[in-house]
Amino acid sequence: MKKGLFITFEGADGCGKTTQLNLLSDYLKNKRDVIITREPGAKGLGEKLREILLNYDGDIAPQCESFLFLADRAQHIEQIVKPAVSEGKIVLCDRHTDSTVAYQGYGRGLNLEEIHYLNTLATGGLKPDLTVVFDVDIETSLSRVGSEKDRMEAAGIDFFNRVRNGYLEIAKQEPQRVKVIDAAKSIDEVFNDLLKLVTPLI
Ligand code: TYD
Repeated sequence: MKKGLFITFEGADGCGKTTQLNLLSDYLKNKRDVIITREPGAKGLGEKLREILLNYDGDIAPQCESFLFLADRAQHIEQIVKPAVSEGKIVLCDRHTDSTVAYQGYGRGLNLEEIHYLNTLATGGLKPDLTVVFDVDIETSLSRVGSEKDRMEAAGIDFFNRVRNGYLEIAKQEPQRVKVIDAAKSIDEVFNDLLKLVTPLI
């Protein structure tokens, strides 16, 4: 059996990571057993948490928001990611631990050490083999999102600049695991850059 792989896709809203995740899944599917999944809300209980996180129309305190993302993560890791990786599959995951560091930590200003600790609790210490951050300026990414914004996307430009810088900081701190791709380029060029990172692992 081939070794399973866990690859996470990260970046601010509208950075194009989901398009790239789908392209990679299509490219890999004749070669390996691949699943695509996401946080928040891969399935079941997670979908209910996602509904609250993206559409609840009252105030959600930043700590509460973090715990809801982390609750979703704990369930997702146990139910989907760990079993698939141990069966030798390639798991392509749209957002994971670094989203909480970037959005709730750098974006909302929560304590980074605490978030790292809580992430470790939620994942049981399982880390992605590769994390790709799709980096693009916030004006471009928000224009890709369009005018129909969910609760998170409505947070404003200063928030998203903090999120973007947060991702770049994460990549500086963990250069082995976290790679940054310039996502302002064309879809084909970005995909080529992604393949350069993934090919050595498969
Ligand atoms: P989603 O519609 O999946 O957005 P995208 O297509 O950009 O991934 O919405 C997920 C939103 O939740 C997105 O704004 C990022 C945010 N988020 C956090 O703030 N913290 C987290 O830990 C996670 C996983 C997501």
